[in-house]
Formats: sequence, structure tokens, C-alpha cells
Amino acid sequence: MRSIYCGLVTEELIDQTITVVGWVHRRRDHGGVIFLDMRDREGLLQVVIDPDTPEAFATADAARSEYVLQITGRVRARYQGTENKNMKSGNVELLAKEIQTLAKAETPPFPLNDDTITVSEELRLKYRFLDMRRPEMQERMMFRAKATSAIRRYLDEQGFLDVETPILTRATPEGARDYLVPSRVSNGEFYALPQSPQLFKQLLMVAGFDRYYQIAKCFRDEDLRADRQPEFTQVDIETSFLDDEEIMNISEGLAKELFKTMLGVEFDTFPRMTYADAMRDYASDKPDLRIPLKLIDVADIMQSVEFKVFSGPANDPKGRVVALRIPNGADISRKQIDDYTKFVGIYGAKGLAYIKVNDISNINNGVDKESGLQSPIIKNMTDEVLVELIRRTNAQNGDLIFFGADKAKVVNDAMGALRVKIGLDLNLLTCQWAPLWVVDFPMFEETDDGKWTSVHHPFTRPKGTVEEMKNSPETALSIAYDMVLNGTEIGGGSLRINTLEMQTAVFEALGIGEEEANEKFSFLLNALKYGAPPHGGLALGLDRLIMLMVGASSIRDVIAFPKTKTAECPLTDAPAEVDAKQLRELGLRVREKSKDSN
Ligand code: AMO
Ligand code: AMP
Repeated sequence: MRSIYCGLVTEELIDQTITVVGWVHRRRDHGGVIFLDMRDREGLLQVVIDPDTPEAFATADAARSEYVLQITGRVRARYQGTENKNMKSGNVELLAKEIQTLAKAETPPFPLNDDTITVSEELRLKYRFLDMRRPEMQERMMFRAKATSAIRRYLDEQGFLDVETPILTRATPEGARDYLVPSRVSNGEFYALPQSPQLFKQLLMVAGFDRYYQIAKCFRDEDLRADRQPEFTQVDIETSFLDDEEIMNISEGLAKELFKTMLGVEFDTFPRMTYADAMRDYASDKPDLRIPLKLIDVADIMQSVEFKVFSGPANDPKGRVVALRIPNGADISRKQIDDYTKFVGIYGAKGLAYIKVNDISNINNGVDKESGLQSPIIKNMTDEVLVELIRRTNAQNGDLIFFGADKAKVVNDAMGALRVKIGLDLNLLTCQWAPLWVVDFPMFEETDDGKWTSVHHPFTRPKGTVEEMKNSPETALSIAYDMVLNGTEIGGGSLRINTLEMQTAVFEALGIGEEEANEKFSFLLNALKYGAPPHGGLALGLDRLIMLMVGASSIRDVIAFPKTKTAECPLTDAPAEVDAKQLRELGLRVREKSKDSN
């Protein structure tokens, strides 16, 4: 039907006769001459229709936006001064001889040729088949496809085998709720969709495949955000007989190769940072290192101040008091400070104290509280405390210092997020890309109800011996590593436990008794008895990686058919009710929806 894509027509084809097919992106009537911008996945091509080809002219005249046309004509150079540098085909146009209408189109619910018009995401997703016609979406999806093949190429060359693992399976704990699928054959029993292929890939190592990968769909029923979808894609990797350094090197090599081939960006060796350092300096286990600001602990200085808001957490072993110095931040307005105070409130912070540093030239003589420092809190602080604060934060005239004081979790969540927000607001980014590895994660963390849970997952190998892990689970570190880019966790992995003894001990530390472990993971425990090699791996979040690479603000923009924030698909209307017969076959009954039922 066509000889070439619209978007690929260039000067080389001048004077040749070609046939293109595509959608009418824009139609302009210039007093007797019709211009059609024809669009396909490769881009746009300007077509000119003269009245001296009356049939073609009549068809073009009747054509509307989004009609599908087949056009044959002769390529010619555009008149001087009418070239369009924004189009690949911008130096040429097609003089139409024949036009066929292949499909008519109703007026689309939103224009596809004007990105300045704001369209609700709900509507875009309902008409995703139209939304994806927009050049921006076409480019993103094509970028994704090319990136996926570059990933496959890299892993294939490194001897990785692509193996598929089941979707209908048992729960694999990765910290989210499961999506369940009822069984018709065994009423009352359910499959779980995999939160990741974790256990299957470990079994593939026991099976001797040595190097596995899969571009795998994962399903997690969790609160959705810009970088989280209920179903998403991992580049899932597992290897045997490699240590953590080797696995990190392979994964880092993959990321480097991808950025080089897709964007021409060359990364240096990724820096490494321990979890403890990341939390101390950035209050985040995925620090955005493009932003130079650091948090500074000041609890020791605040232990005896009169201001309870600070002295309370300063004396609480679970508390944290930090300062965040913003160089030249004294210009930040009162209104802006109020907005930042609201912002940290989202994370549970009860306020956002600050000190504006106007003049500390004579700091050795004490601090001038009238004009030297400006703040609602300094009246409660002695000169010694203030002088020490200025020294610790290395504050200079014209700076602003924010403070967070609360339980460590609240301070970390609030001040870590504030650090990033201010960095972006004040345009403090020092580079375009800041990849790093975060290593030495704790093995366990305490939940709100005082239980222990895995920081990575329960199959991650702790550093040290079984005895050491049992004796002090609270300080045990894991051999786990996260790949972070620009403040987003793009991947995570670990070495795995390959002995029954260690796996049982870790289950015990997590409060999973023998009975429950056997009930849920007997297949894994069994496999560990039959020569399980030392193994480990990692999974990259493909959607997140592509989102960052194309500069999108949400992973929804790089997924063909994503779900909304309430995990719905406006296009298909999923999830949907099912008919009574289907429910009966599955042995299910839906409870009456009532106001107080959840
Ligand atoms: P983890 O849970 O860290 O590890 O997931 C790996 C990567 O997957 C991405 N990711 C997500 N992307 C979009 N939406 C989500 N809801 C979502 N959840 C996670 C992140 C994350 O870094 N089995 C282990 C990996 C291993 O140990 O090998 C796992 O799944 O980018
Ligand atoms: P207050 O005494 O509650 O009026 O608070 C005095 C200042 O301390 C205000 O600027 C508050 O925003 C700030 N503040 C209150 N609670 C906290 C907190 N937990 N962490 C940091 N600053 C706070």
C-alpha cells in the first residue's frame, strides 16, 4: 500500500513518485490549494493538492482530521523560505496525483495536533488509541521498543537465557498486596499473580541455568503514584556463581550501554554509598545526587534547648533533629516558607522552623538576635547553641537554614522530600544524570506494630553467619544493592540465601514459623536441599528507566495502556463486575456493597 513512511521522505527522493499512507494531522485550505500534513509513526509529511488534479482535490477537500488516506504523488523541494526545520521531511513536500480515502474518522474528542491544549488524563486514557497517535507518544513507545531490544542484545551477548515464568502462581512476597485469581477447578482456592519472578528465578538457578533474564510483567496491589503501576515491567536477572560485585558490574554495564546507544550519554563508574550514609546525608535510600544540598544532624546541639519541639526528639533514641542549609536562601519569601511548611506537613511534619542568616560577621562575639539572625525560634536558644549551629552548618550571610525535628521516620520523609523540592524549585541541579549504587542495606526493619519485616525480601542473604544474624537481627546488614538514578530507584537486587539453615533462620527472625514456611515456601525450602548454587541477581524497573530516559513525569506516559491512580483502565472499564454464572462456577459470592464495608 505504501512505498515509504511519511516521516522518512527527504530531499533524496526529489522528483520521484512515491505512495504514502497515514492520518490527516492537519488540513489547511489556502485559497484554491489544499495542504494536508500526513502523519505516520515516523513523522509528518506535507502534501499539496492542486485543483488541476480534480479527483484528488475533491477527496482532499472532503478529508477531515484523522481520516486515513493513501496518497501517490511526486516529491518536490519546498519553496525557499517555507521549509520547516522541526520536521524530518521539512525541506520537501509531496505534490499529490491520486488520493484514496482508506477510512473516515469522526472528530476526535481532543485535538491530536495541538499539545498546548490541556486534556484530562482520564479522557486521554479512555481514548488511548487516539492519544497514542500523538507524535510524542509514538516517539516514546518506539524509544521503549528500541531500548528493550538493546537490553535483550546486551544480555544475550553476555550469555543470559530468556526463560518465561508463570503468571498464575503462588504469592511471592515483595512487600505489596497480591492480585488474586480464583480457581474454577478448585473452588475456594486462589492463584496469586507474581509480584516478581523472584522464587522462580532462584529455582532456575537450582536447575542449573546459570544466567537467566526475562522482561517480566509484575503485579502489585499497592498505593499508586507517578512511578508505580499495579502491573509493571522488570528486566529480571539472576546468576549463579557470581558475587555481588560481579552482578553489580553486569547491571551497571547494561545501564551504561543503554544510555550510550539510546541517548549518547556516557556514564563514569557509578559511585557507591552505604544505606547509612544515604540516610544520614540525604534522608533517603534513593538520594538525588544532582542536588548538592545535604542534611546535617544537630540533635546533640539541641538536647538542652528550651524549645521542646527540638529538645524532645533530640533526647529520644528514635528521634532525629536535622538542619538543611540553603545557600543564598534568605531570599525565600515568607509565603514560600509557608508553602514549604505545608509541603512537609504531607509527610507528617508538625512544622518547619527556620533561621535566616543576615549577618554573622562578628560571630565570635556571640550572635546578634535582633538583626543578625531572623527566626521564630531563636528566642529559645542560647548564644552558645546558635554559634555552634552556625559553625556546624557552615552557614554564611544570606543563607537560610530549615529544621526538622520528630521521630526519625517523619524527619527523613519530610526533610528528604523538602531537600529535593527545594533543589528543583531553586534550580540547583549540578548535572543531568546522577546514577549511584546504594549498598549495605539493613536486613530487617521494624513495622509500626513492632514486628520485623525484610527491607529487600526474605530470600536476601545477610552478611555474616547464621549465628550473627540470629544474635542481632536489628543490626544485621544484607548483601543487597539498589541502582538509583536522579532520585528514583531504578533497580534492586541481592545475593540470595542458598542454605536451608540460613533461610529457616531468616524466616524465624521474620516471625514466619516452620509450619507457615512449609505451607508457603516448601518448594523453595525443598530446592535448597538439592544442591542450590550460590546465586544472586537484580531487577530493573523498565518503566521507570524509560520514563527517566525520555524525560516523562510519570511511568503512565511510557506504558501503552496504563491504569489510573485508582488502578482502573478507563479504556476497557476494568475492573468490572462479572455475571452471576461466572461467580457460581468459581464458587464465589459478592457481598452486598454497604456503606461501612470496605
Ligand atoms: P524490587 O521490589 O526492588 O525487587 O523491584 C525491582 C524494581 O522494579 C521497579 N518497581 C516498580 N515499577 C513500577 N511500578 C511498581 N509498582 C514497581 N515496584 C517496583 C523498581 C524496582 O527497583 N525480586 C526483586 C529483585 C531481585 O531481588 O532480584 C524485586 O522485585 O524500579
Ligand atoms: P511553634 O512554637 O509551634 O509555633 O513553632 C515555632 C516554629 O517551629 C515554627 O516555625 C514551626 O513551623 C516550627 N516547628 C514546629 N514543630 C516543628 C517540628 N517538629 N520540626 C521543625 N520545626 C517545627
